[in-house]
This record gives sequence, C-alpha cells and structure tokens, in this order.
Amino acid sequence: MSLLRDADLSAAFDHAARTYDRMTSANPGYHRHLRRSARRLGLPAAGRGLRLLDLGCGTGASTAALLRAAPLAGITAVDASAGMLERARAKPWPPGVSFVHSPVELLEEAGVHGPFDAVFAAYLFRNVDDPDQVLAAVRSALAPGGRIAVHEYTLSGRAADRAVWTAVCKALVMPLGRRHGDTALYDHLWRSVVAFDTADAFAARLRGTGFAGVRTLPLPGWQTGITHTFVAHTPGTARPGTTEPGTTEEDA
Ligand SMILES: C[S@@+](CC[C@H](N)C(=O)[O-])C[C@H]1O[C@@H](n2cnc3c(N)ncnc32)[C@H](O)[C@@H]1O
Repeated sequence: MSLLRDADLSAAFDHAARTYDRMTSANPGYHRHLRRSARRLGLPAAGRGLRLLDLGCGTGASTAALLRAAPLAGITAVDASAGMLERARAKPWPPGVSFVHSPVELLEEAGVHGPFDAVFAAYLFRNVDDPDQVLAAVRSALAPGGRIAVHEYTLSGRAADRAVWTAVCKALVMPLGRRHGDTALYDHLWRSVVAFDTADAFAARLRGTGFAGVRTLPLPGWQTGITHTFVAHTPGTARPGTTEPGTTEEDA
C-alpha cells in the first residue's frame, strides 16, 4: 500500500469519521497531549480578542484543546474531510468557533483570511503534499509575532522509537482500524510517520520557511521520542502579555 493524498485521503477520513473518536480515546493521553501542545502557544488573557486557526481540525479534538487554552478567542477550524467536519460540527461549541470545509492549501479561496494571532495544527503536516508550501501560507496568514504550534508524530531518529511506533501500529492500531473497514487509512498512518521528517528535520523545515524561535518539545508516556510539539513565531512583536511559546511553567 502507498501513502494516501488529497481526495483519497479525504475519502478515507470521511469513512473513518464514524469511529475516529473511539479510536483516539483508546490512545492514552491523546486529548491531554493536545491540550498540552495548545497551552504551549502561551496565549494571553484566555485568548480574549485573539483570532486563532486550527488546521486539520478533524472531529474537533484539537479545536477543543485550543478552546481550553484560549476560551475567549475566536477560532476558525478547517478540514478537507466533510465526514470529519460533520462530526466536529455536531458537538457543542461557543459562538466564537466556526468550521470551514477546505483543504489547507486553499484557505484564501475558502474565505479564510488572516491575520491570525496563532495557528494550531495537530497531526496534519505529514498528510499534506507540500509541507513547505503550507508552512509558507501559514506564515503569511499570521500577524507579525504570531505563533504556531504543530503537534505531530515526528520520530526522534532513534531505532528504538521507530520500533515502538511500528509495534503500536501493527499490534494495536492497524488491527482495530481493519475491523472498522479503515485498513488503508491506518496503514497510511503507520507509513506516513515512518516516511515523514524526524523531529530535527521538521524543526529545520520551520526555520527554513522563515519561522523564528523554533523549539521542539517532548510529550510524555509512550509518545516520548515519537510525538513532539513544535512552537515558533513569525518575526515581529507579539501582542503584549504573551509569553514566549513553549515556556509556560509546566514546560520551562
Ligand atoms: C489525524 S486527523 C487529526 C484531527 C485533529 N487535528 C485531531 O487532533 O484529532 C488529520 C486531519 O487532517 C485533515 N487533513 C489532512 N490533509 C488535509 C489538507 N490538505 N487540508 C485540510 N485538512 C487535511 C484530515 O481530513 C483529518 O481530519
């Protein structure tokens, strides 16, 4: 099997949407880790007056994490899969949260215009065709000093971490996915992580696309060495009251 892209990937997520929340709740720490990554944005004043973007929001797990970190912010959440978005929209949200059906490559065409104060992208980047192009678009959609937090499976480069990833996928995730009729998607999950950037390579990619203050932060539990939060900002001055991304007390 090969990696899924574009319409094939969206169709696979459309089908998997029915069981996606059940699959992720079987992953210890899934929601807790998303909340931790969202907090690492260091957003001030509970997000009052801020405009935030959640790219690849899926069924809304990352949107909920962002909302927890910044309950007073306006959040635009974007996804290419109609099935995943339908699940997200069916959940209760405050009026400041809105959902847009679009590939992240076509934000302007979908009417999603910056400037945003921060962007969150959880488990998105290894799925896109051209991560540099998406990062460049994110950079231009951010205000000067605007932040990005990317939460992504990015292996450390150590053989042991790659072996844990393969064991978790082959013994647990892929058999469960097969049972739900989502063989291709969970095969893609395993392969896309193995094929994607290591954590160091993704940090270099962020620097290469013009982000400053890039930090790579670990996550606890079995995800150590497998999943990371990357925080960075665009050049310029952030709004008063913001803390440097990734330096909240728990992460200092
Ligand atoms: C693994 S899910 C993660 C969902 C959510 N962020 C979370 O943390 O649970 C990845 C999501 O990214 C979306 N996606 C993948 N490629 C995309 C693209 N090019 N544009 C928009 N959404 C995309 C998929 O449809 C899917 O809902």
